[in-house]
Amino acid sequence: MRNWSDLEHICINCSKCGLCQTRHNVVFGVGPKDADVMFIGEGPGEQEDLQGIPFVGPAGKLLDDMLSIVDLSRENCYIANIVKCRPPKNRDPLETEQDACIGYLRNQVALIQPKIIVCLGRIAAQRVIDPEFRITRQHGSWVERNGVWMSATFHPSALLRDVSKRPEAFSDLLSIREKIREIGARI
Ligand code: URA
Repeated sequence: MRNWSDLEHICINCSKCGLCQTRHNVVFGVGPKDADVMFIGEGPGEQEDLQGIPFVGPAGKLLDDMLSIVDLSRENCYIANIVKCRPPKNRDPLETEQDACIGYLRNQVALIQPKIIVCLGRIAAQRVIDPEFRITRQHGSWVERNGVWMSATFHPSALLRDVSKRPEAFSDLLSIREKIREIGARI
């Protein structure tokens, strides 16, 4: 395991997959390095690539609104992605790209030691929780692994495309809030 500064330095200079050729910035992650709650998205979009910060485009605005409903914000949770560089035209990150990048996320989780991890969307849920994870059926459910509570909700981009999913996403947020209370996580 690497310390924060080595990890960030190595990640920012990474050329382990082809995404390094088209990126403007590596999007490493944002938030307190000792956060109890961590959100994991899929990969940077256009704005994130340009600014080097996760979830700053339209989906990010919605994520901020979602977080604020349950007293969460960038100040009290850590936000990162499965892949740190933008897949061209926002396509899903390839398995090979995820494989190349996942070590950075694992190292981030090991350093942060969050008590709660919430995956945003299918790609993150399948990578972090279960390769067979079905977001439509299993969103809002919880599993505990090595003392870390894990759940998934819809990706904010999906909620922008399909507003009919928003009530279910809202109940997922309430369940995150409840889990925070139940286990006494710091926010
Ligand atoms: N979508 C993601 O999954 N991550 C981001 O950082 C932005 C959009």
